[in-house]
Amino acid sequence: MLTPAIIVPRYIALVPAAGTGTRMGESLPKQYLELAGHPLLHHTLHRLATHPRIAGVFVVLAAGDTHFGAMAANGSADAVEPLYCGGDTRAASVYNGLVAIRDAVAGDDWVLVHDAARPCLSAAALDRLIDEVDESDAGGLLALPVADTLKREDDDRRVASTQARAGLWQAQTPQMFRYGFLVEALRRAGAADVTDEAGAIERIGLKPRLVMGEARNFKVTYPEDLELAKLILENS
Ligand code: CTP
Ligand code: MG
Repeated sequence: MLTPAIIVPRYIALVPAAGTGTRMGESLPKQYLELAGHPLLHHTLHRLATHPRIAGVFVVLAAGDTHFGAMAANGSADAVEPLYCGGDTRAASVYNGLVAIRDAVAGDDWVLVHDAARPCLSAAALDRLIDEVDESDAGGLLALPVADTLKREDDDRRVASTQARAGLWQAQTPQMFRYGFLVEALRRAGAADVTDEAGAIERIGLKPRLVMGEARNFKVTYPEDLELAKLILENS
């Protein structure tokens, strides 16, 4: 007797890496700057590609990217599929990447969108995200409760007020959603000001789960961040 095939949703990583890194102030986009012996992007991709629960890794690059090829030729991007379809914003890059992989994924597969600029994500935090987001959840994201006291400025950059920080979290990545929901949410958000995937999912009325992130999973943004990322990578 034939038993019906049970199709288990897979975990797929999609890494937007089509930015220019203006705040870093270098001519080379920050994802290609040298960090602990490799391009920064190598670390990010390697962490995802070697994680046993991730079935595939896609990276979204700028259409005219000339740096990834050299990195791949050095064996630095094995098991990663490049997509040369980056957009003008992070949301557009993610949306274009999702559309480009439509034939390779099922609607129920989970897509973990992870910033190229977060090379220090630990395997433990990735496991926590996958473990804590339930089958019944809309999805979820790594995030950190705000630790510092928050001040609102006035026009003179003096303190106008102190904001309550209770219940506030800083969003990190990966952010993990069902492929079908995420494409539809980003399509509907269109040019609206969504800075992360969760924002698009919230706009369609769903509530992503907050999963405890980690300080080491910060986003490399300014020149001094490279030194901290190097220390972390060389000691882990
Ligand atoms: N990103 C992207 N496409 C864009 C803009 C950003 O794929 N049009 C990616 C970046 O490559 C990065 C991630 O989204 O991995 C997070 O964005 P951010 O840290 O802001 O990177 P940049 O936009 O490159 O940096 P900056 O804002 O300083 O210019
Ligand atoms: Mg940016």
